[in-house]
Amino acid sequence: MKAVAPVTLADCREVDTKGSEFIILKDLCKSFNGRTVLDNIRCSIPKGQFVVLLGPSGGGKSTLFRCLTRLIEPDSGSITVDGTDVTSLSPRNLNLFRRKIGFVFQQFNLVKRFNAIDNVLAARLSYNSLARVILRCFKQKDRQLALACLDSVGLLEQAYQRAEELSGGQQQRVAIARAFAQQGDLILADEPISSLDPQSSENVLQILQRAARDRGLSVLCSLHQVDLAVRYADSIVALKDGRVLFNGRSQDFTLEIREELYRASQA
Ligand SMILES: Nc1ncnc2c1ncn2[C@@H]1O[C@H](COP(=O)(O)OP(=O)(O)O)[C@@H](O)[C@H]1O
Ligand SMILES: [Mg+2]
Repeated sequence: MKAVAPVTLADCREVDTKGSEFIILKDLCKSFNGRTVLDNIRCSIPKGQFVVLLGPSGGGKSTLFRCLTRLIEPDSGSITVDGTDVTSLSPRNLNLFRRKIGFVFQQFNLVKRFNAIDNVLAARLSYNSLARVILRCFKQKDRQLALACLDSVGLLEQAYQRAEELSGGQQQRVAIARAFAQQGDLILADEPISSLDPQSSENVLQILQRAARDRGLSVLCSLHQVDLAVRYADSIVALKDGRVLFNGRSQDFTLEIREELYRASQA
């Protein structure tokens, strides 16, 4: 069987714009049916940090995530991730780019009747032949990786339990283990704690914070809870009415900015 070399973001790089920032958004615009949702978004996200994208519901957080991975096409502006100009990637390179991003969703997106380890192994599908996928016969090293990822979120003992038998917090941790198994540089977590109880929410945020601190991953996580954002994030990007209200270190996120963020819009 032909060995597949690991893909790095550098492999699908078409424009080289080196810098200390991992994600750079310039003048990003997106409208739906004439209504502006992202209005000239300009912000940068440093490498290896836990960054929270903060804003009220309907503020454009999920739209920004979708533009970032080109699940929807922005109307204008540029997106650079680790030197890759995402807006100009060819379809093939866009697939390679997405393959290296770990996604974590509000509703976990696990296969409920699969056990935890098989859900984590789903992250390795694109690195295995069709026959291996159909037979669910993954390489030993992929299994070891999946177990190590489950261990890192405290779920080694639950590796062979079906996802549907796990609590919501445990299911979200399986989803994070799956994102780790992508072995990329970037994790995008869209409202990962919205359906969790307070204790499970704290567990998930601690794991994402450690992913940046210990693994050097860049983690972009959307939340609408200011207190949690300030407590856990290294930096914050706050969106209001489709614009960037704040982009900086969480300790610089002042009470005034917090009040402004949740003050009713004049529009
Ligand atoms: N595909 C779409 N078509 C039309 N409107 C959309 C679409 N996606 C999002 N919107 C609208 O864009 C706004 C921002 O939505 P969203 O990005 O989901 O916000 P958030 O994730 O911050 O809650 C909302 O008003 C939503 O209704
Ligand atoms: Mg959303």
